[in-house]
Amino acid sequence: MSLEPPLPLYVDCDTGIDDALALAYLLASPEVEIVGIGTVSGNVSAARAARNTLDLLALAGTPRPVAVGAAHPLAGRFDGGAPHVHGDDGLGNHPLPGSDAEPVAGDAADLLIRCARAWPGRLRILAVGPLTNLAEALRREPELPALVSDVTIMGGAALVPGNISPVAEANIGNDPEAAALVLAADWPVTLVPLDVTLSNPLEESDRMRLLTSGRPVATALGGMLDHYFDFNATFYGDRRSALHDPLAAAIAVGAVVPAVAPRVEVIVDDTSGPGRGQTICDLRGRFLGHPDQPGAHVRVVLSLTEDFAPHLLDRLLAL
Ligand code: BDR
Ligand code: CA
Repeated sequence: MSLEPPLPLYVDCDTGIDDALALAYLLASPEVEIVGIGTVSGNVSAARAARNTLDLLALAGTPRPVAVGAAHPLAGRFDGGAPHVHGDDGLGNHPLPGSDAEPVAGDAADLLIRCARAWPGRLRILAVGPLTNLAEALRREPELPALVSDVTIMGGAALVPGNISPVAEANIGNDPEAAALVLAADWPVTLVPLDVTLSNPLEESDRMRLLTSGRPVATALGGMLDHYFDFNATFYGDRRSALHDPLAAAIAVGAVVPAVAPRVEVIVDDTSGPGRGQTICDLRGRFLGHPDQPGAHVRVVLSLTEDFAPHLLDRLLAL
């Protein structure tokens, strides 16, 4: 057992079924202590995401400060989310017991900046929704990159197709202007793209273990995953689900170590053409091994050393 104190972690999310898995995983992870959670419009509205987050935290018996963040992307308007993926409520139409917990005062960018100042140089950021709040925090506090330890982002598609357009992944494609700012900022970023999240699925037998565990959070997650499995089956061909956000969480925690993850230049297409939302990763000559691009600050995770699902299940079943 490690004697290191847990690392302070700020989570930015659009809770969402796989966001809920990520949050539960983090609550079960001794390596980190969640010190703040901001929500953003993506899978559902930022306000709904906050409600889902607060109710999940209440079910787990682990209250944390939750702040509602950006209602709309930097350019344009929130499009109503992804009910076909996450259900009308974001939780697979499988409501959690309601709680009377309320968001804190101030918005998510404000909470992120307060956390960064409270743990200067130590705060780790995990972003598993559109990057609007992070971009807004950078605008309000230009010193933010110097105040945080590092940033892990679930987003993008390096060598595989997108999931909301032929080239754009949802978290990047729902606010490309914000993603461009966040990926260009001078802080160490680990990008966890579809390349690796789609190739590490959860199976129906895993879902049944959660559902029948008798543990309140795991049982709720098993229930909401039913809807997510229906959607994911449309492209996997059978009932299973991608593990986007929990995998990014495990990499942020340091509990899962990437196998191939070169540091390369990454540019976000924020033009209005067919490439809008694409993460253009300069992987020329680098995707088979580790040679980093000198000066690059974005590590793109392409594969893992081990299957992720068994580790995820171990932690979720212990919560
Ligand atoms: C990402 O988009 C959202 O639907 C998921 O929660 C995940 O963060 C996957 O593209
Ligand atoms: Ca998400």
